[in-house]
Amino acid sequence: MKITDIYLKSRYIILCLVTIACCGHAKAQQVTIPVETEQTAVVLQTDAAGHLNTIYIGKKLDKTGEYELVTGEYKQAIDYSGMYNSAYTPAGSRNLLEPAIAVTHADGNNSLDLQYVSHTQTKISNDISLLTVLLKDPVYNFQVTLYYKSYYKENVLEQWSAIQHHEKGNIVLQKFASANLNLSAGSYWLRQYHGDWVREMQPEETLLTHGIKTLDSKLGTRANLFMPSVFMVSLDEPATEDHGSVLFGGLEWSGNFKTDFEIDPQDNLRIISGINNYASPYQLKSGEVFETPPFLYTFSTQGKGKASRDLQSWARNYKLIDGKGSRLTLLNNWESTYFDFNEAKLNELLKSTKKLGVDLFLLDDGWFGNQFPRNNDHAGLGDWQENRKKLPNGIAAIAKEAQSEGVKFGIWIEPEMVSPKSNLYHQHPDWVIKQPDRQEYYFRNQLVLDLSNPQVQDFVYHVIDSLFIKDPALAFIKWDCNAVIYNAYAVHLHQNQSQFYVDYVRGLYKVLQRIRAKYPEVPMMLCSGGGGRVDYGALQYFTEFWPSDNTDPIERIFIQWENSYFYPAITSANHVTDWGKEPLKFRVDVAMMGKLGFDIVVSKLSGDDLKFCQNAVAIYNEIKPVVWQGDQYRLSDPRKENTASLIYVDADKSTAVMFTYLVNYRYGEGSKRPILLNGLDPEKKYRIKEINLYPGTLPVTDHERVYTGDFLMKIGLNPEVNVNRTSVVMELNEMK
Ligand code: DGJ
Repeated sequence: MKITDIYLKSRYIILCLVTIACCGHAKAQQVTIPVETEQTAVVLQTDAAGHLNTIYIGKKLDKTGEYELVTGEYKQAIDYSGMYNSAYTPAGSRNLLEPAIAVTHADGNNSLDLQYVSHTQTKISNDISLLTVLLKDPVYNFQVTLYYKSYYKENVLEQWSAIQHHEKGNIVLQKFASANLNLSAGSYWLRQYHGDWVREMQPEETLLTHGIKTLDSKLGTRANLFMPSVFMVSLDEPATEDHGSVLFGGLEWSGNFKTDFEIDPQDNLRIISGINNYASPYQLKSGEVFETPPFLYTFSTQGKGKASRDLQSWARNYKLIDGKGSRLTLLNNWESTYFDFNEAKLNELLKSTKKLGVDLFLLDDGWFGNQFPRNNDHAGLGDWQENRKKLPNGIAAIAKEAQSEGVKFGIWIEPEMVSPKSNLYHQHPDWVIKQPDRQEYYFRNQLVLDLSNPQVQDFVYHVIDSLFIKDPALAFIKWDCNAVIYNAYAVHLHQNQSQFYVDYVRGLYKVLQRIRAKYPEVPMMLCSGGGGRVDYGALQYFTEFWPSDNTDPIERIFIQWENSYFYPAITSANHVTDWGKEPLKFRVDVAMMGKLGFDIVVSKLSGDDLKFCQNAVAIYNEIKPVVWQGDQYRLSDPRKENTASLIYVDADKSTAVMFTYLVNYRYGEGSKRPILLNGLDPEKKYRIKEINLYPGTLPVTDHERVYTGDFLMKIGLNPEVNVNRTSVVMELNEMK
């Protein structure tokens, strides 16, 4: 017998065994469950033994009944376990691949089998539906409910699970993913992100190969410092802005996460994402429910641009605080004073705020601590009382002065943290995360408070609440989080240390929920030494985030560009600072692609610079509805071209704003060819006007030039960016 014959024969025997095993169960009626959005379908199906699989994720079919035919068209290699494409892969029974869930039962047994029991589909609104599927273990009193929340117009899905048991004693959840997706294509291209302080959102794109590729974080707080959970997977070839099939995903969780990409022996891609189970086996009491955070995704067959617009409108419509509303422009004092300020200086800054024409003055770090004054980053965190030297009349006096200047007032706080040099540290050592018998190790000279402890949650809540009680007109909070967690140990958790990472984030969310219950609309900026904590788990409590401490406008173009795939411009707090070598106009233009703020010494601006900034604020107030609520189209990719260009178009395609920047300063570089516009109405005529010019400079483009949308999207428009005009903003208005 030839070797190939032996191989074929053994495969045949295995196939028979698999079939017999399946047929050993009473044959359940096959159930097919499609979850559809306007353009996408996720289809679940039970097999003969009652296990639930994902048989399809892709373009929606015209006829729902035809989903049942999908599997028949695949002639793949043998699936030995019969569950490579399980909708929620249990560990310890016949599974051979990465599981979504692993459990140690009350009797110490590690096996799990999950069989379909029932499902319900509920229409929550015209746009939103919720599918719940109940799965049960036939041997143990253990169940999982899978949730699929679909947003029809936005083509977005959220998936999570709820795990429960009624065993005699506690069980231990060893792994507890939110979602387990299965995709089928010829090849898979992962675009992932990595970074560090001032280097956030650096992309890498690679071909996935067999085995497991993991994206994860073990940092606890500031969890995205090295890597955010957001990613893209293109099918068959890397998707471009307007072409190709691509899935965008991310976990709505502000702590440790883990996403595994496994190409299985049939060459399908399994994506398993959830809270990281690293150091986190979780005890679950009988009757208790463990709910995982949602895994968010959207699938586009029209490239990355479409996926990002869908995600952006989903965020504005459903996730963000006041996503369809307004935001405050501001002047921040961090880079103009750092810790060195007093009441007189702040009063001057309030005048500058007014002069600039922005809405709010934001007082940053350094206003608190007396015995351990916050005059640098070595002391004071936790002692949230006004520093009497700097602010003898308290915050209330600054807030009052702001009112008389006619500007709003906001404040910085980092409430999850404690400095070893603080009263809080000495009064409540048991509230501090640190190993009892090991040397302390600091990140930015500070430690993290134990938010798994309800007393600490209460403390943090009251720190924020008392700011509002002292100043009821307080209009803005910047919530910072600068440290990661070293030496994870929480006194309050006693023997249950492995619950710490999960309970910390749950504790944080409890505090944020309490704050939002009392102050539902106050704008809050999510900051983490820059973009160290940006995810939709946190963003549901915030109005905006701080993408990076790096405000060099060239760097910002790249950081904001990548963030924009996942987060709408209205969430991106962009400040004009003195970072970088670009002219003021360039810095302002870049900051306008989001929520505009300033962190400069206004009193030192030249006459023209001040005039330019004042005018820019006025222009920004005109265009901000389009930037915040419009559809964003990326036109010229700074990673591929010498220019970065993008356009925001309003819903009825009558107004648009296009931003273009020179990102390569080599000799003679500029926009040599017209840039193809996108998102316009081909039938409409648009008048093009260059806006936000620096005093004394003239627009190159004639004010009265009018083009059809057809022309602009087929031939394009040249904003004439070059070394003398490094950034250009164009407004397009429909001519009626
Ligand atoms: C880090 C933030 O990213 C900065 O904007 C500033 O608020 C500092 N912390 C203050 O310590």
